[in-house]
Amino acid sequence: MTNDHHSPDAHAGAMKLYGPRFHQDPAGLYREMRQRHGPVVPILLEGDIPAWLVIGYRELRHVVSNARLFGRDSRRWNAWDRIPPDWPLLAFVSYQPSMLFTEGADHQRRAGAISDALAAVDQFELRSQCERTADRLIDAFTGSGKADLMAHYAHPMPLLVVATIFGLSDADAPHLVEDVSASLNGGEGAMEAFQRVQATMQRLLVAKGERPGPDMCSRLLAHPAKLTEDELIQDLIVTMTAGQDTTANWIGNTLRLMLTDERFAVTLSGGRRSAGQALNEVLWEDPPGQSTIGRWAVQDTHLGGQRIRAGDALVLGLAAANADPQVRPDSYGGSAGNHAHMAFGHGEHGCPHPAPEIAEIIAHTAVEVLLDRLPDVMLSVPADALVWRTSLQMRGLSSLPVEFTPGYVVGGVR
Ligand code: HEM
Repeated sequence: MTNDHHSPDAHAGAMKLYGPRFHQDPAGLYREMRQRHGPVVPILLEGDIPAWLVIGYRELRHVVSNARLFGRDSRRWNAWDRIPPDWPLLAFVSYQPSMLFTEGADHQRRAGAISDALAAVDQFELRSQCERTADRLIDAFTGSGKADLMAHYAHPMPLLVVATIFGLSDADAPHLVEDVSASLNGGEGAMEAFQRVQATMQRLLVAKGERPGPDMCSRLLAHPAKLTEDELIQDLIVTMTAGQDTTANWIGNTLRLMLTDERFAVTLSGGRRSAGQALNEVLWEDPPGQSTIGRWAVQDTHLGGQRIRAGDALVLGLAAANADPQVRPDSYGGSAGNHAHMAFGHGEHGCPHPAPEIAEIIAHTAVEVLLDRLPDVMLSVPADALVWRTSLQMRGLSSLPVEFTPGYVVGGVR
């Protein structure tokens, strides 16, 4: 397939969505993009691969609400002939037979089953599971008086909890956390780690087939959608990985805000602004999933004044849309109580109900238990020394070093 769609004039003035400018000051870059191109921006992804970035709030809602015009199946991309086999973003776009890339009735069948199985999670039991997990993680470093809250707390927390939702034993969950992290981080051993994750899911499904329990895997095996074993393994892995880095970064970005912003300072000793307000502000200002790649145009169309060709790739600018002056004018009174952000996406492929609620319980409990157990916790480096990870999709810290008065081990007993 030739791709004259992306001859230089078709993508005139395209701006790079990679490199130091994007990673150090994405908000500034989005402002410049909006001034120069409006709500839909011609961009170059790493390796100067052309695509569109949707940064207008209304335009983004339009894209994610029109799956017939903007599909999720990446095989229709008209630039595959330009993608090298070692392209760093390949893992996000190469077609997999999982719920993520399916469309229409097949997607509804699979996403519906996942949503039903998540909806049966007892949210009170989940909250106490989160407390136990948080206490166990804090017990491991409380005696030292210092920690990296990303590596030792925010990253292991979500998957340890989701593993128990799936029905995995507390003994097996840490191995799964290691393998999923190794497969998500890419590089050496990533493929072997991914194969171990698949094998763990297969073993779990066999075990739950023999002895069903009050868990997600057993519910999926009994679900009328009758997902095949391959479909179940693919979709369980998608559910785990979709919830992992996002929830971990939500915890990390919220702790960063509460440890660096005066408005929350008093909270540490019981004051003005709550963890709930910090969590919501992060979803507006520093959403853990800042953009996602994405959607592929099913036919030629127009969007935000741009001509979109069949097969063109669209990157969903979730963080940029949250900052759209059309919905956030300067006189805007802050995010408190407003949940109309795009952090969880929207539409057919949006974060499936009740995953956002589950993420909120994990993140809220993680923040509250940490502030409760380490009341004098503070950053051990200047706030401007904190480094954001270089990632197209994720907005998260590479580390969050803190210090505090050494505490006592509670051993999961509150
Ligand atoms: C802060 C936490 C989270 C954020 C910000 C988040 C955000 C998102 C977004 C933006 C999408 C849509 C992507 C698109 O439209 O292409 C998505 C999809 C998804 N999320 Fe979440 N998510 C979070 C937590 C979770 C959790 C905890 C789970 C599972 C327990 C989960 C499961 C999923 C699944 C399965 C999809 C794919 C839906 C589909 O393609 O049909 N997410 N999430």
